Amino acid sequence: MSDQPWWKSAVVYQIYPRSFADTNGDGVGELAGIRAHLDHLVWLGVDALWLSPIFPSPMRDFGYDVADYCDIDPTFGTLADLDALVEDAHARGLRVLLDWVPAHTSSDHPWFVASRSSRDNPRRDWYVWRDPGPGGAVPNNWTTPWSEGGPTWTFDERTGQYWLHSFLSEQPDLNWENPEVVEAMHDTLRFWLDRGIDGFRADVIHNIGKDPALADVPAHQAKVPHCALNHDPRTIGHLRGIRAVVDAYPGDRMIVGEVFLTETKQVPAYYDSGRGLHLSFNFPPMFLPWEAAAWRGAIEEAAALFDPEDAWPTWVLSNHDWPRHRTRLGSEARARAAAVLLLTLRGTPFLYMGEELGLEDAAVPPERVVDPGGRDGCRAPIPWTRDSGHGWPPRAWLPLPPDAAARNVQAQRDAPSSTLHLYRRLLAARRNCDALASGSLHLLDGLPDGVLGYRRSAGDERLVLIHFQSGEVAVPGWPGSVVEVASDGRGEGETFDGTLGSDRAVILKPATS
Ligand code: NOJ
Repeated sequence: MSDQPWWKSAVVYQIYPRSFADTNGDGVGELAGIRAHLDHLVWLGVDALWLSPIFPSPMRDFGYDVADYCDIDPTFGTLADLDALVEDAHARGLRVLLDWVPAHTSSDHPWFVASRSSRDNPRRDWYVWRDPGPGGAVPNNWTTPWSEGGPTWTFDERTGQYWLHSFLSEQPDLNWENPEVVEAMHDTLRFWLDRGIDGFRADVIHNIGKDPALADVPAHQAKVPHCALNHDPRTIGHLRGIRAVVDAYPGDRMIVGEVFLTETKQVPAYYDSGRGLHLSFNFPPMFLPWEAAAWRGAIEEAAALFDPEDAWPTWVLSNHDWPRHRTRLGSEARARAAAVLLLTLRGTPFLYMGEELGLEDAAVPPERVVDPGGRDGCRAPIPWTRDSGHGWPPRAWLPLPPDAAARNVQAQRDAPSSTLHLYRRLLAARRNCDALASGSLHLLDGLPDGVLGYRRSAGDERLVLIHFQSGEVAVPGWPGSVVEVASDGRGEGETFDGTLGSDRAVILKPATS
């Protein structure tokens, strides 16, 4: 793997900074909290950190509404705090990715304030403005994911036009068809690359290109958020420019794009045969039912669509936008088996902080709801310690997840049977084995109903077996093979007994290895 860029064999760990660790007792996490726990992340065994947005923001979408791309919000610290974090991370071999939000700014961004000030302001065309339709109607039928699917348009009384916002009205879409916008956004990348940042997760990057005709979508799609439908070839052209900026820096800097589209087959275009994104998320598998056949289909589809040379796949089960997979799958056994799946598939896995503790979403009472998109539950603070506060003041910005007395870092580090230790063993297994980190994947045929199995090979070999149903099944492993990791921890280091219980997964090593 040494000739491959680091991000092909890495495991990326997503940090939602508000909820990771609070060192100043204000109930909100900050950069110093991340810095204080780097040794823990090294102990866990991840390779790179992706920080959700930390830039100055009015926080109407908790940082995905950026008011200044080149500074740090005081909630999280200062530029000096970020530099110190990056330096300490690099000293430990951890890379750091920031969350770049190129498709829209905050309505508080000086660019939008200027754009809105008059029709002839030089920044007017940096955003997407349109005249009202007949009778003052919105310019088209596009909808947002929120406000019950309300229109993507808000009318500006002063200048008599609507502005486009694929998300909240306080998140106006940038006009990437204006070359000045392209150059200004490239400069924001250079600002962080010059500071030694290893790359970016690029928010809804498939939504930067738009056909200036802004035509209606067919009526049957009018309730689908437009951001999940927009698949415009102009974006690919913009990605080439972005790629050139990033690739001009040494050290395999990279961009992983949030391409939030409804079909996996739409995703490879954004890699553009190595000229576009370095990596792209592929979200449809995240929503699969817990069924062997469904996952087999997703793995086959990925193998057919993603070219390992220049469209290396990615896998993710949880993030800050959707219920955690522990909550979705409904049991600890399934969540643990799913971790074996995530960390043994062919592609770069993304972990969401707290999944390694088996966290469920917090129950957030109506009076404590703060997110306009109803996503507070999966953003609850990480419980660090056994004591009653778990590392947070009595009232953190969100309630803690359920069962924090058992699901906290301190308790789980002390318990070898914990989910935290399972993730650690899985990460070590990947790190020590080229087959798991980057080898080929060959699906096994003829397994019992409800069992998915595949062989990973790259000189060395591993066999992965996952049982998606209840009850015990007999599964042919390799003769004499040894259990390297088991989702329930049982039998590790011993010869595989040829059976799998309910929702159990194993990684097997050949007898001779
Ligand atoms: C996707 C981000 O993950 C989400 O949190 C955000 O609300 C939207 N993009 C808008 O930026």
